Amino acid sequence: MEAKLVKNEIYWVGVKDWNLREFHGYNTPRGSTYNSYLIMDEKITLVDGVKHYLSEENISRIKSLVDFSKIEYVVVNHVEMDHSGNIPDIMKLAPQAKIITNAAGKKALEDHFDTTGWEYQIVKTGDSISIGKRTLSFVTTPMLHWPDSMMTYIPEDKILLSNDGFGQHYCSDALFVKDAPFDVVCEEAKRYYANILFPYGAQAQKALNTANDLGLDIEMIAPSHGCIWQGEKEVKTILDLYCRWACGQNEGKAVVVYDTMWGATAKLASVIASVFEDAGIPVVKRCLTECAVSDVITDFIDAKYVAIGTPTLNNEMFPRVAAFVTYMKGLQPKNKKGFAFGSYGWKGGVVNQIQAVFEQLGWETIAPFEEKYTPKADVLEKLKEHAKTMID
Ligand code: FEO
Repeated sequence: MEAKLVKNEIYWVGVKDWNLREFHGYNTPRGSTYNSYLIMDEKITLVDGVKHYLSEENISRIKSLVDFSKIEYVVVNHVEMDHSGNIPDIMKLAPQAKIITNAAGKKALEDHFDTTGWEYQIVKTGDSISIGKRTLSFVTTPMLHWPDSMMTYIPEDKILLSNDGFGQHYCSDALFVKDAPFDVVCEEAKRYYANILFPYGAQAQKALNTANDLGLDIEMIAPSHGCIWQGEKEVKTILDLYCRWACGQNEGKAVVVYDTMWGATAKLASVIASVFEDAGIPVVKRCLTECAVSDVITDFIDAKYVAIGTPTLNNEMFPRVAAFVTYMKGLQPKNKKGFAFGSYGWKGGVVNQIQAVFEQLGWETIAPFEEKYTPKADVLEKLKEHAKTMID
């Protein structure tokens, strides 16, 4: 596949990882892309690299447009290795190029690679560099989602090269969102936010405010994963979605997450789900035997109510539930109301471990509920009445 024109002299020279199905624990059923951009201005500039195993493809796409000896700048917006994995290859081919990154980016590059001989230009929010007809302006976005994360804005083209922000793990033949199924791209953007950016709502809000304060006029958002948001409707949609997700707004839905050994916890989960259904609250019931944690956490974006249920195995939470709770705790979803439930054989109490995580996350809760062995009709009735108290 050739390099693709994004706008004026800005080209997509990235790579497509069609068969990627897992990204550090996050399942990626639609693959991903690592977008890298080449700006053919007076000072030829490459923005971001790709994962190491697709380096050759990225390099051949760049070579189809320019000899590496002509590249003057390599912008490293983020050092996580899906974007920097082949920066050493690039610097070998273009040793004259200066790396533009922020102070944390330089440190992270040095921590990852042998950077002997690399020259840098260190930038911070508000700094600009002229590359000829256009300017590169930088907005550092620390902890969105690494300390080194940064975005590059080109005012002359009104393009924001946003790296991970606004990305999607979505691989298709479409370069632009307008040429892809809109709902699918938005769904993947949501899954991306939930699994990568959920803990960093405050940082996302700050980045959006900074972009506003700097008066960035954005007609196109070109992330480093997935399709490019081009056009008023597309750009507005993703900015509005990020505003909503970043401030923890939800749609008042419910998620019941559980696993089960002999069916007892599943029975409890069904009763709780039916309470929400009967109250007219949209609910999803997810059994962790069948559902990937990254799909379940995506449901949390729209949820106000979260019920998590576990069987007891060797006096501990069931391992798949424990794994999910650990994943959820790290992603720190906010503004939820939690309900821990479960079953046990001879020693209860593991539901308190889930309750403790809810409390650590600052959620409102109702008292946990657990039942010995198989819950009978009267117990299910009692659970139903208790679950109703969760609903505002
Ligand atoms: Fe796509 Fe944080 O790397």
